[in-house]
Amino acid sequence: MKIGVIKETQKGEKRVAISPNISKLLIEKGFELLVEEDAGLASSYKNSDYESAGAKIVSRETLFNESTVLIKINPFDEDDLKLVNNTQILMSQLYYKSNAELIKSIAATGATAFSMDAMPRISRAQDMDVLSSQSNLAGYKAVIVGANEMTRIFPLMMTAAGTIIPSKVLIYGVGVAGLQAIATAKRLGAVVQATDIRSETKEQAESLGAKFIQVDNSGETSEGGYAKEASEDYARRQKEAVNQSLFQADLVITTAMVPGRKAPVLITAEQVRQMKNGAVIIDLAAAQGGNCELSVINKTVIENGVKIIGSTMAPESVSTNASELYAKNMYNFINHLTENNEFKWDLEEEITKGTLIVHNGAIKQN
Ligand code: NAI
Repeated sequence: MKIGVIKETQKGEKRVAISPNISKLLIEKGFELLVEEDAGLASSYKNSDYESAGAKIVSRETLFNESTVLIKINPFDEDDLKLVNNTQILMSQLYYKSNAELIKSIAATGATAFSMDAMPRISRAQDMDVLSSQSNLAGYKAVIVGANEMTRIFPLMMTAAGTIIPSKVLIYGVGVAGLQAIATAKRLGAVVQATDIRSETKEQAESLGAKFIQVDNSGETSEGGYAKEASEDYARRQKEAVNQSLFQADLVITTAMVPGRKAPVLITAEQVRQMKNGAVIIDLAAAQGGNCELSVINKTVIENGVKIIGSTMAPESVSTNASELYAKNMYNFINHLTENNEFKWDLEEEITKGTLIVHNGAIKQN
């Protein structure tokens, strides 16, 4: 079976879905690997690295003509779909809950499509979870970017010229990104506080050295490992509990997302106006509408001396590692779905069922 790796075209994207190392592993399993010319360049993988691993470098046209499986990171777009035929199997992050038109366009080709972001949150799917592998890097990079934008340093410093007190970092959302942000900010010497709607995250935050800000979450629920939309009452209680820390914070990182929905607004414009002059907010939920009311995707907004950075570009900015991890997730996923290089089509199996969005032109989930 031929697996085709598409060169990403989304603006700012530097990752590639399959790395040379993973190409080698797939080829050892008996798959043939076709890689679009220069697909790995922005992740520091040369065409010759793929060739050394046994993959074939081909044009976009050949890739779409010959591949059985087509792999990308970002959703397939209309230009891709013009080249897709009804025998092909597409794999990428489709964000199907918020991309209904795209799913209809895929179905119209008669093809089959799996969505990597729809991975069920069960233990055996952990090594295929792209949201998790990419969020981990995002959490790390958010702290590095934040440190760079601040006009203060993180650690306590005692010198003959005086004492510098450590910076205060506040993290909203103690999921994969939030936990890595806590660990990174702590390692740099900041005083870290964190909050999450799921109270089970308290212990995890504390184990990494953060102080957990507990908000009464009675009446709130979660589903399949993901938080559900919080009530207005919870939002009010959260503000009461967190405001004091927010107004003293030097760096705030927000990571709260609810799958398939607009991200919850956790910091209003009015709250921003009460923050410290020079504070920085990194809003990792900006692409989903933002956790801060003032966030604009891929822009820095300055309000009352507070810098609000709406960036989800973090995994892209460490594209070599991000591609490696995404590729390993894909390798595990392909292994899970196939036997002797053929798809098993075990349609009732939980991971297959959860990620299969379009099957032979029929929409399975919306
Ligand atoms: P996420 O990106 O969906 O959300 C980030 C965090 O924001 C979550 O912890 C969520 O509870 C929190 N949040 C949502 N709304 C909020 C609000 N209004 N106020 C405060 N916090 C809010 O979550 P992520 O990082 O993708 O994963 C969440 C958890 O799922 C992880 O901690 C992990 O334990 C689990 N997980 C399990 C996997 C598996 O078993 N295969 C794979 C990946 C994660």
